[in-house]
Amino acid sequence: MSSQPYPAALHQSSTQSRTLISQNGQNTPTGGGTPNSGTGAPELDVRQQLLNYQKMFDQAAYPFINDASAYEKLSKIGQGTFGEVFKARCKSTGRMVALKKILMANEKEGFPITALREVKMLEQLKHPNIIDLIEVCSAKSSAPATKDRTTFYLVFSFCEHDLAGLLSNPKVRMSLLHIKTMIKHLITGLNKLHRSKILHRDMKAANVLISREGVLKLADFGLARPFVQRENSNVPRALYTNRVVTLWYRPPELLLGDRSYGTKIDVWGAGCIMAEMWTRQPIMQGDTEQRQLQLISALCGSINQEVWPNCVKMPLWNVMSSDTNTPLPQGKKRVLRSKLRHLMRLDGPDGRSQSDPYGKGKPNEHLPADFKDDDAMNLLESLLAIDPDKRPTADEAEDDIWFYKEPLPKANVQDLMDTIPTSQFEYTVGKGAHAGRGRHHNNQPRPNQAQRQSNAIPAGQYRDTIF
Ligand SMILES: Nc1ncnc2c1ncn2[C@@H]1O[C@H](COP(=O)(O)OP(=O)(O)O)[C@@H](O)[C@H]1O
Ligand SMILES: [Mg+2]
Repeated sequence: MSSQPYPAALHQSSTQSRTLISQNGQNTPTGGGTPNSGTGAPELDVRQQLLNYQKMFDQAAYPFINDASAYEKLSKIGQGTFGEVFKARCKSTGRMVALKKILMANEKEGFPITALREVKMLEQLKHPNIIDLIEVCSAKSSAPATKDRTTFYLVFSFCEHDLAGLLSNPKVRMSLLHIKTMIKHLITGLNKLHRSKILHRDMKAANVLISREGVLKLADFGLARPFVQRENSNVPRALYTNRVVTLWYRPPELLLGDRSYGTKIDVWGAGCIMAEMWTRQPIMQGDTEQRQLQLISALCGSINQEVWPNCVKMPLWNVMSSDTNTPLPQGKKRVLRSKLRHLMRLDGPDGRSQSDPYGKGKPNEHLPADFKDDDAMNLLESLLAIDPDKRPTADEAEDDIWFYKEPLPKANVQDLMDTIPTSQFEYTVGKGAHAGRGRHHNNQPRPNQAQRQSNAIPAGQYRDTIF
């Protein structure tokens, strides 16, 4: 092997391969260095070069990475967008972990840059409300098609439940205090993320995990990225891709093509998740960007300059508002409060608050008889403000008055966890909740949805869009 540091050689291979393969996909041998000579071998076939790199990659030893054989795989618990997730046990400590396989989409380019970014960010995000990355480990594939290929895994501390699964299980009854505690954890985790100058960019219930001890953890940093805070407005804003955030949780600015968005995109997602705690299903289930904008207008009111002065500056504003079947209908009232008050039963017949969309549970006995939780609704209203500038920062939301009023949020929802006999994964494996609920990205087809029928949501399914 050359004396060149290994990662540098890999990097060179990827940039070379891009320049050496011409537009029509034909190989165009040019005078590039090989991994071994470093001096140039003009006629060397590019494909052969890439195979050499692949071989180097597979044969390399990874002295700082544990072998995956340190873990015993127990079951597959998730088929995420970017790879499989397994429940496993550490053979030496007995600790339960989740192994997230890193998808090597273009193995010739070596360790994927997206996974590298995920690891780098998780390293600096040690916080009780953020999933704990234990290590990265590697294994040699035994499958015939990929024999001897190296596979990498991210090793996380194991969480018994994800919020999407929890919410789809009608047996899980959550009190207002459980919801308040979990939302407090969610916003605290998000605040840590934003203070660390990282955008999550895929906030949704499926990416929120709950440990056996009842502590909520933000997970899935596959779309996350660091951001730059502008010190003054003369510095041009950085432009990011707007092809982020699962459609149902995507805020209006992204749907209108904004590429200089900031932390408020995650705040919108937190609002969608907060509402979902009561509705037990995603609140706006559009199947196209246009439809998603219509659903937002139907629930949160028309999008216009009155509520959002800068909306006309959005790149897609003209296109979307001049469309004959405009996705930006005008004259729509904001009905979020009235729709959700009913579901939250904040104005129930006995004047007592309860959070039981299935209508089977008892009211929250621990709440004072005259309890009326307008504060929860006020926070939700602000998180789901159409104008990103009007949404609170995660820091402001963490300090919201709701969290300082009785009943005060607790350190965990352990008591809720104790009422659930099996891990959510055993409950939902293969049934849908963990197979697709809220997980599809961008324009991939949405999962089949059950028709709106009754208040009871079959496990792992959605009612049809109700808002
Ligand atoms: N640490 C973990 N403990 C338990 N389950 C997990 C853990 N990490 C991920 N999962 C499960 O695997 C699913 C997919 O993982 P995720 O990190 O969201 O990857 P993807 O980017 O593929 O969606 C999650 O929705 C969750 O159900
Ligand atoms: Mg995910």
